[in-house]
Amino acid sequence: MFSSYLRTIIYLLYVFFICESHQVLDPTQPRIAIIGAGISGTSAAYFLSKTPGLNPKIDVYSKDLVGGRMATVNIQGYDFETGGSVLHPRNKYMKQFAEQFGFKRKKGISGKFGLYDGSHFVYSEGDWSVMNVASLLWRYGFSLLKVNTLVGEMLNQFERIYNVQDDGYAFSNVADLLSAMDPSFNMMLERSLEAGLKHAGVSKLFIEELAHAIMRVNYGQSPDAHQFVGSVSLAGAETGLWSLHGGNKKIPHALLNASGASFYNEEVEAIHLNTDGRFSLRFKENDEMPLYDAVILATPVTNDTSTFGFENFPRQFHFPGRYHQTVCTMVQGDINYETFNFADSSSVIDDIFTTNRTLFFNSLARNYPVDIDDGAEGAPSVWKVFSNEPLAKEELDTLFSAINETFVIKWKAYPEYDGTTTTGNFTLHPGLYHVNAIEFAASAMEMGVIGARNVALLAASHLGVDIQDRKTQSFHIEL
Ligand SMILES: Cc1cc2nc3c(=O)[nH]c(=O)nc-3n(C[C@H](O)[C@H](O)[C@H](O)COP(=O)(O)OP(=O)(O)OC[C@H]3O[C@@H](n4cnc5c(N)ncnc54)[C@H](O)[C@@H]3O)c2cc1C
Ligand SMILES: *[C@@H]1O[C@H](CO)[C@@H](O)[C@H](O)[C@H]1NC(C)=O
Ligand SMILES: *[C@@H]1O[C@H](CO)[C@@H](O)[C@H](O)[C@H]1NC(C)=O
Ligand SMILES: *[C@@H]1O[C@H](CO)[C@@H](O)[C@H](O)[C@H]1NC(C)=O
Ligand SMILES: *[C@@H]1O[C@H](CO)[C@@H](O)[C@H](O)[C@H]1NC(C)=O
Ligand SMILES: *[C@@H]1O[C@H](CO)[C@@H](O)[C@H](O)[C@H]1NC(C)=O
Repeated sequence: MFSSYLRTIIYLLYVFFICESHQVLDPTQPRIAIIGAGISGTSAAYFLSKTPGLNPKIDVYSKDLVGGRMATVNIQGYDFETGGSVLHPRNKYMKQFAEQFGFKRKKGISGKFGLYDGSHFVYSEGDWSVMNVASLLWRYGFSLLKVNTLVGEMLNQFERIYNVQDDGYAFSNVADLLSAMDPSFNMMLERSLEAGLKHAGVSKLFIEELAHAIMRVNYGQSPDAHQFVGSVSLAGAETGLWSLHGGNKKIPHALLNASGASFYNEEVEAIHLNTDGRFSLRFKENDEMPLYDAVILATPVTNDTSTFGFENFPRQFHFPGRYHQTVCTMVQGDINYETFNFADSSSVIDDIFTTNRTLFFNSLARNYPVDIDDGAEGAPSVWKVFSNEPLAKEELDTLFSAINETFVIKWKAYPEYDGTTTTGNFTLHPGLYHVNAIEFAASAMEMGVIGARNVALLAASHLGVDIQDRKTQSFHIEL
């Protein structure tokens, strides 16, 4: 009698102090915190919420807007993508999310493409697509076909991950996840894209021009980056690319909503391991310290991206590596015909990729609003410049002859793939997981979802669900 009275008081004190503004809970329901509400955090919430037999209470925390590196800027009443913008036709999860939520797709790049070396175009497209293919083949020959085959093979191997995850297999580190796709993938992390392509017999010209230009536009880097991210990057230059009508960030918003998770706009300062194996979170601007059975980090945590504290853990965590700064400058105005030697509006190149390591910009491309198809009339003339450093006034004047408005977004965009950083662990401690470890293999929206599903499986397993029981894997059908 007395002890049950005491238990009630303790429970009420617990509810009052620990759960204060949070909902009162079913004590058997596992509580999961997700830190970060980009595509990784929101898809982790979604997968966890759909795991049969888990029934979790999920809290998602983010210091910024939902979507993270999937973001838009409004220019003259239209929204334009400034972060993650294009998806590959074989990005299965992103495609399925779009379909499942009933979102429309917007077709990608359709303009004229050119390779600029800092003084002239070494290759540029004209109005005739047959001629364009012929002149590309003339310049790069056999290498073009070779790379096409290599990327196709890689995508076939890559796609094995979807069955592996449907079958409930999860991996505690990135190297093991890549091995499950194909044993050769880990070798690709250890050599540069340049070395890998050379080894396959691809020409020096292709590597220096096309591969280089594609690495610059996608990752702000060069073919010195490792071959795995290099191949993801080459795949990102294929045809059939798409984005979401209305903006890519509609997907993380819909995932968060569909997961039923609670969202809190808070910055997490530290994760504290308690003696009972559970975790408390500490916030920057809030004295509560809620308690969780599992915590998922869904944000970069290298020392240049985060100041996160880990308290009371038996070992110190190391997050080697750093993130590459990519500055996205959105310009509403006119491109400078003189700089690029355009005779008239019909000779303007819409997608300018660069092949020069020391040039001050990586790419310059005409952009269309998220709700207007590429190539359509009516939208304001907007260009997107990617560079490693903010553009100086003279640099902007070199690229543009008239400017109405500019918007500058400085991203810690994706890892620096300089070959010094080995891939890390998804499992930091039993119950504590890190999705973004996968970014050191390659950073992309689809990679975030693959990492999130892996981590959701690990967390579910930690919380007592048999993840390889096929009956529990029903969400691969619904997905
Ligand atoms: C300019 C650019 C172009 C790109 N282009 C493409 C592309 O075309 N195709 C493609 O597939 N990918 C592209 N990417 C990569 C892609 O956008 C990212 O890989 C992906 O969006 C990362 O999602 P994420 O959820 O892992 O991380 P994020 O989106 O960074 O989300 C992490 C969130 O966590 C929050 N957070 C961090 N610390 C804390 C804390 N302590 N407490 C609370 N919240 C915190 C952050 O505010 C952030 O919102 C591009 C990226 C950039 C920057
Ligand atoms: C490459 O860029 C640098 C710096 O802008 C420039 O000096 C050099 O001439 C460029 N190379 C070519 C081939 O134009
Ligand atoms: C959120 O989800 C509910 C169902 O769970 C749905 O009815 C609603 O339309 C969704 N809202 C948005 C903005 O997606
Ligand atoms: C971050 O860590 C690297 C080693 O990985 C180190 O060289 C660098 O000085 C550190 N930077 C900061 C800001 O602590
Ligand atoms: C600048 O904006 C005005 C109206 O907002 C528009 O009419 C004009 O064409 C724009 N100029 C350029 C160079 O895009
Ligand atoms: C990954 O985890 C193992 C222990 O499981 C540890 O020895 C190793 O140092 C970790 N690697 C990184 C990069 O943190």
